[in-house]
Amino acid sequence: MSIRRDFSDRKSQRAGGCERPGADGHARVAACQVIGRADDACMPPPAHRLSGPRSRALFAAACRVIPGGVNSPVRAWKRLGGHPPVIASGSGAWMVDVDGRRYCDYVLSWGPLLLGHAHPAVVAAVERAAQHGLSFGACTPGEGRLAALLCRALPSMQQVRLVSSGTEATMSALRLARAVTGRELVIKCDGCYHGHVDALLVAAGSGCATLQQPDSAGVPPAFAATTLSIPYNDITAAETAFRRHRGRIAAFIIEPVAGNMGLILPAPGYLAALRALCTRHGALLLFDEVMTGFRTAWGGYQRLCGVTPDLTCLGKVIGGGMPVGAYGGARTLMRHLAPQGDCYQAGTLSGNPVAVAAGLATLAGARRPGFFPRQAARLTRLVSGLRDAARRHGVALQLSQAGTMWGFTFTDRPVTDLICVQQSDLARWRRFTVGMLSEGVYLAPSPYEAAFWSSAHGEGEIRHTLAAADRVLAGMG
Ligand SMILES: Cc1ncc(COP(=O)(O)O)c(C=O)c1O
Repeated sequence: MSIRRDFSDRKSQRAGGCERPGADGHARVAACQVIGRADDACMPPPAHRLSGPRSRALFAAACRVIPGGVNSPVRAWKRLGGHPPVIASGSGAWMVDVDGRRYCDYVLSWGPLLLGHAHPAVVAAVERAAQHGLSFGACTPGEGRLAALLCRALPSMQQVRLVSSGTEATMSALRLARAVTGRELVIKCDGCYHGHVDALLVAAGSGCATLQQPDSAGVPPAFAATTLSIPYNDITAAETAFRRHRGRIAAFIIEPVAGNMGLILPAPGYLAALRALCTRHGALLLFDEVMTGFRTAWGGYQRLCGVTPDLTCLGKVIGGGMPVGAYGGARTLMRHLAPQGDCYQAGTLSGNPVAVAAGLATLAGARRPGFFPRQAARLTRLVSGLRDAARRHGVALQLSQAGTMWGFTFTDRPVTDLICVQQSDLARWRRFTVGMLSEGVYLAPSPYEAAFWSSAHGEGEIRHTLAAADRVLAGMG
């Protein structure tokens, strides 16, 4: 969970009146200054419908001492127009707020909780580790075990450096890419989020080969100008960017399955074509698997798609709910890092023993034979049920799934990139999300987020969610 959710919101607001990029990869942008047009069409629901009195009181108190009352912007629920429930506890697939309201949780801390809330094995591992000491800032046995496990699981990894967040992982991996190639520019895709790294907070939805402007106050334009943003799933735009900036691209960073604009799968052959393009131009291909790693499959989406990136970033599940990130690749690349090489990167709490223990326990659960196929099959039942319900009630709804991740967008057209989500029916998304919340189903408070599934979810949760969706969709047809 992160700053990007409001960032995404700003991207979507800017898109009013924007057209899809042309075949040459240039965006034709018209009337892009229309702010919030799609949302103005529907009034936000009154705040009291979204949270109970205790939540509201606690949130109001937090607002006095924390900017916006939250430590990461999307938690403020600005898009839903109400005050968020304040969560008291979680167990398995369920969370309870301070007013005693129960929710079947499909956010799962924005992805890390693959085994559900407070899984007994994870809690026990954390307790055991904590009894031995919280942090040493020195070598510990667990970090070597986690690194070895990651290197065995991911085709691209011979060595890995542990950090404390996904943002740290992408920031450090890009520094390494620049150190190795001696080049400055990085290509990303519109709507892909890679953490709140200064240079990656750039406007989306504009032309492929133009150097970008910052999308957040406080980011020097010179930093953002090192990033090019192009449409996802558009290989022509990628070719154009490489051609225009020949010899200057250090890396192409991408979420192999995009989980920060709903859930969008790569078009067949797209990732392989990017691989070939990067190799041809001497740039590094960087898969940001902070979300997809150990969510789409054991070893990440790279195992499923058969495309091997040069560098991979991880986070979320590998910390099991505690702060862990990682980046890694071939030994020949990783040797450029200090203390062996001259690319500096460090962290007081990197490889923290308690966080690593939570990650190892979570991955031990995910490593059981058949774990991913079993969970994916269960989630498919939920996704198919939602698709049937939408059809029954005449609501245009696109659903997607990748392993234990899923997403939904209110549109009758296939969803292939950010513009598809921006042009979807956001008023319907809000009605659905608010309706589901009041039925005890907790979905992300932004249409630009993926949803998640855990091994603690089962038939009971599927039944609860489908019954809720049936009632909510019935009022939306
Ligand atoms: C694909 C991706 N990369 C990087 C990040 C940043 O991770 P963190 O919030 O741990 O800094 C996120 C966070 O949601 C993400 O989804």
